[in-house]
Amino acid sequence: DVGKSTNIVWQECMVKKEVREKHLRQKGCVVWITGLSGSGKSTLACTLDHALLRRGRLSYVLDGDNLRHGLNKNLGFSAEDRTENIRRVGEVAKLFADAGLICIASFISPYRKDRDACRKLLPKGDFIEVYLKVPLELCELRDPKGLYKLARAGKIKCFTGIDDPYEEPKNCEIVIEPIDGLLASPEEIAARVISFMEEKG
Ligand code: PPS
Repeated sequence: DVGKSTNIVWQECMVKKEVREKHLRQKGCVVWITGLSGSGKSTLACTLDHALLRRGRLSYVLDGDNLRHGLNKNLGFSAEDRTENIRRVGEVAKLFADAGLICIASFISPYRKDRDACRKLLPKGDFIEVYLKVPLELCELRDPKGLYKLARAGKIKCFTGIDDPYEEPKNCEIVIEPIDGLLASPEEIAARVISFMEEKG
């Protein structure tokens, strides 16, 4: 079948993950941020990236909007395309972690099975799922890009939370939710994520 990858052989390199990690003095892993549009994923991702850098750690952000400008520009928002989007990102995140980096992935990633498939690509403990559990009403109130307004007006179809599903994580590592309608600052949330990572070594 010329359309599929067949007759391929895995190539092992001399420089192993452990050696890179020793060199970088950190452990490669994936911090996967999931949540509705407008829940603050990208802001948290960038804040965390910066906070890690200040601590002398090397990380890199993979962001939904950004990857859809390049690697995933041929994908839309159907269930199939979202699954393929997350599958590709999961594979890229795995490569970053293998390179010894802290890969921060920020995607709505609305389907539990897709997030779980990404988790399975990594060694146990190396996938930290952070759920920004911000209620739809609050995301819609914020509406930083005006997309909810367009979705409500029927100008964007299949918008997550409006006429497209979001499946909450069941066993994720960190859940962040507002207290009395107030969400902690991105800096506070980033500090919580870093504490978790430090605790787990
Ligand atoms: S997904 O579901 O994980 O494949 O989505 P993702 O790659 O994270 O891209 C989400 C950003 O795309 C914009 N956008 C939409 N989001 C949800 N539903 C629909 N229909 C849609 N159309 C465009 C939107 O800016 C999302 O960014 P965030 O940062 O989540 O607001």
